[in-house]
Amino acid sequence: MSGRLEGRLIALGVTGSIAAYKAVELLRLLTAEGADVVVLLSPSATRFVGPLTFAALSRHAVESELMELLPDGRIGHIVIADSADAVVVAPATAHWLGAMASGMAGDVVTATCLATSAPVIAAPAMDGDMWRHPATSGNVERLRTAFGYTVVEPGSGPLASGQSGIGRLADLPLIVDAVVAAVAGRPVRAPDPAARPPRVDGVVREPDLVGRHVVVTAGGTREPIDPVRYIGNRSSGRMGVAIAEAALDRGARVTLIAAATSVALPDDRAAVIPVETTGELRAALLATLFGGAGEGFGDAMAGGAANGAGGGAPESATARFDALVMAAAVSDFRPTQAPDHKLERGAGMTLELEPTPDLLAEVSRITHGLDSTGAATRLALVPAPVLVGFAAETGSLDRAPDKLRRKGVDLLVANDVMDPDSGFGTETNRVVILDADGGRDELPLLSKREVADRVLDGVVARMDARTPAEQTGAMSEVSR
Ligand SMILES: Cc1cc2nc3c(=O)[nH]c(=O)nc-3n(C[C@H](O)[C@H](O)[C@H](O)COP(=O)(O)O)c2cc1C
Repeated sequence: MSGRLEGRLIALGVTGSIAAYKAVELLRLLTAEGADVVVLLSPSATRFVGPLTFAALSRHAVESELMELLPDGRIGHIVIADSADAVVVAPATAHWLGAMASGMAGDVVTATCLATSAPVIAAPAMDGDMWRHPATSGNVERLRTAFGYTVVEPGSGPLASGQSGIGRLADLPLIVDAVVAAVAGRPVRAPDPAARPPRVDGVVREPDLVGRHVVVTAGGTREPIDPVRYIGNRSSGRMGVAIAEAALDRGARVTLIAAATSVALPDDRAAVIPVETTGELRAALLATLFGGAGEGFGDAMAGGAANGAGGGAPESATARFDALVMAAAVSDFRPTQAPDHKLERGAGMTLELEPTPDLLAEVSRITHGLDSTGAATRLALVPAPVLVGFAAETGSLDRAPDKLRRKGVDLLVANDVMDPDSGFGTETNRVVILDADGGRDELPLLSKREVADRVLDGVVARMDARTPAEQTGAMSEVSR
């Protein structure tokens, strides 16, 4: 038997009420009626229920940021306003009723309602005194009569305030019935999925990195020419930050070593180490991964314990990290000299550049117990960390397999930065993931977040494939 909302797109707006948790069940009931549901959260609502739950159940990215575009560049609230068969706001706060009645459009829920010609259903929930206030009554009246909205009035019972009375969110089946009644007899507005907000193009992942330490580098390094100028690159840090966020969402402890970025960093959830130059990035990497202090650490490791104590044969080489994802765009060259004063304008100048160290190759050597000549002179780290490199190419990706071998990594993520969809600063990426066993996974154009999850899928698969001996010590070190 098909549901009463089969083929419909319903936008579920959730605002900052204590009853916001009930919207999760409402989403489930709408889905059970056959609806494709996309969720809009006001900023306050995100404080009550996290977007992940809604995203996992709706299979759509949650709209909560008015100023952020969809991965394909369309404006989220307009796409939803134009394609939804109905917008149901449940719970609707007193504040939302007032903002809506006044025609304000400061968040995705009000903006979508203003922009849509679809029916709107509002189910208020609030304290009894708020509900009875003449301001609220006036706003409800205006939404009903001037806007033609359906208002599913709150019921009576125990309230969050500890009191009992009117203000509880109406029973969920009543809200579903109101949505069904609102769309009855109307044609489906956007039967073509391309006109709707995109479905999440992958599965929402399980927390499969709990207890793991994932180190991510992001952004572009800057090599000083003088105190005010530098050689930099166009990396925004978006891909690296997406990987850090995806790893956090999957339960990992994350250290994010961030060179120059132009996106917000998850510094409330990850340990963020800001760096500027390749030298600083190297020092931060070695300290984080091996407890080393930078310059010369790689060679000083010869014959010493990989976790810091130099000299003598190590008894153990317990890894401090489970995976390293090197998404930072590290400068390949730096000026041989950077004067401590600003260079004056002149007729012209020639900059002399020297190559920077290959950080990933160095980390790989230390991880595998090799010195700079490639000789096995120390213990390999246990458990074997998974190393992931990125290769930004211009044009052909033919050099990528060679890079994977040279750098000694498990996975190499290669992309063509000349492709307008997967260059610097874009929301999307089209990558090929190569693995050390010769595997090659050519992914379609995806959001950077989905690319991040695909990369982490590969990381998790390689962690799971480690032999019992290689696993030893992993959790004890990380849980310290
Ligand atoms: C714990 C808590 C519970 C709240 N519950 C409600 C509620 O049920 N209804 C309501 O109208 N406001 C409630 N509020 C106040 C709203 O969160 C506040 O007015 C907010 O600005 C609403 O923003 P929004 O309408 O953009 O989501 C609550 C606030 C807190 C701190």
